[in-house]
Amino acid sequence: MKRIALLGATGSIGRQAIEVITAHPGLELVAAASGSRPVDGLAPMTQVGGDLTALLERARPDVVLNAVVGFAGLPPTMWALEHGVTLALANKESLVAAGELALEAQRRGGGELIPVDSEHSALFQCARLGEAASVVLTASGGPFRGRSSDELVEVTPEDALAHPTWSMGPKITVDSATLANKGLEVIEAHFLFGLPYDRIEVVIHPASIVHGLVRFRDGAAIAHLGYPDMRVPISYALTYPERAPTPVPPLELRTLVFEQPDLETFPMLALGREAGERGGTYPCAYNAANEVAVQAFLERRIGFCDIAPLVEDVLGRVDGAPARDLTDLHEADSRARGLVPVA
Ligand SMILES: NC(=O)c1ccc[n+]([C@@H]2O[C@H](COP(=O)([O-])OP(=O)(O)OC[C@H]3O[C@@H](n4cnc5c(N)ncnc54)[C@H](OP(=O)(O)O)[C@@H]3O)[C@@H](O)[C@H]2O)c1
Repeated sequence: MKRIALLGATGSIGRQAIEVITAHPGLELVAAASGSRPVDGLAPMTQVGGDLTALLERARPDVVLNAVVGFAGLPPTMWALEHGVTLALANKESLVAAGELALEAQRRGGGELIPVDSEHSALFQCARLGEAASVVLTASGGPFRGRSSDELVEVTPEDALAHPTWSMGPKITVDSATLANKGLEVIEAHFLFGLPYDRIEVVIHPASIVHGLVRFRDGAAIAHLGYPDMRVPISYALTYPERAPTPVPPLELRTLVFEQPDLETFPMLALGREAGERGGTYPCAYNAANEVAVQAFLERRIGFCDIAPLVEDVLGRVDGAPARDLTDLHEADSRARGLVPVA
């Protein structure tokens, strides 16, 4: 029996995780937490808000599924890595922000870090077949793929939340529309697979059938395909190294289309890559500024096209000095948030 602690149990990933856990006799939900919505009765130990690491200390799970959204997911990520407890990571923001600190904690703890993000789960599975020379992350392109900057000026939160292939929480859905999600994922891939940024490609693939592709030095490339359904990577992360059945139907093959991302209309992807290449706490600042800007957009305080310039401005004003510890990291996060004029 694997004992699972599910953080972010009321969210999109959280609800699908409950479905996966309930269907699998070898998985037991021992703890569940949310930020504000009720989780009573979901697990023997539950918590709404408060210190997530205190819950983990009490629950002592075999696996932490971190499905919290945003930088708020940092403490449980660090707790699991530091304690050598398997971390099934949906909360990409914590790895993007903490980067080296998270990897150092994993080295000390010695536990597994298994990505739940579909693209990284795909790459993780392909990369087990040999040493990756480079990786390709696919992006659906979001609801505004093919539009010009002028056509994006008036778009509303409702427009941005209408994702063509994935049904997800509001923050990641807006990130998919700006391509910030792919910017975060490029940085996430850098830390997960230890690859320099010039070996992490992004292609637009509107159908979201190919989730990721690993290139090997002999010229072979191995891709991971499947319907866009998060129950697959959630199940893989929770049952790893086994593979359990899911209700997802077998894939029917059809024409697959790939195109290059439009970096001018969607500057958040290039900004994310640049923040990653600059290193230090630039990725933390990129994430923090983006979180604040996305919240302001969802609350209609700024327009869609204001998000990228606000983040770019913050990246130009922080020093990006590396974080020696979590105190430094929290300071870098707060400083970046404070620099967004809509905070
Ligand atoms: N959804 C997807 O398909 C998908 C795919 C790949 C990666 N991810 C990643 O997975 C994470 C979750 O995404 P999501 O779409 O599931 O988001 P979501 O639907 O907005 O759910 C977020 C969850 O986090 C909880 N939460 C927020 N702040 C918290 C806090 N301070 N303490 C404890 N819990 C807190 C929320 O609880 P309350 O609702 O009670 O506030 C909710 O359960 C994100 O990092 C996202 O990038 C998601």
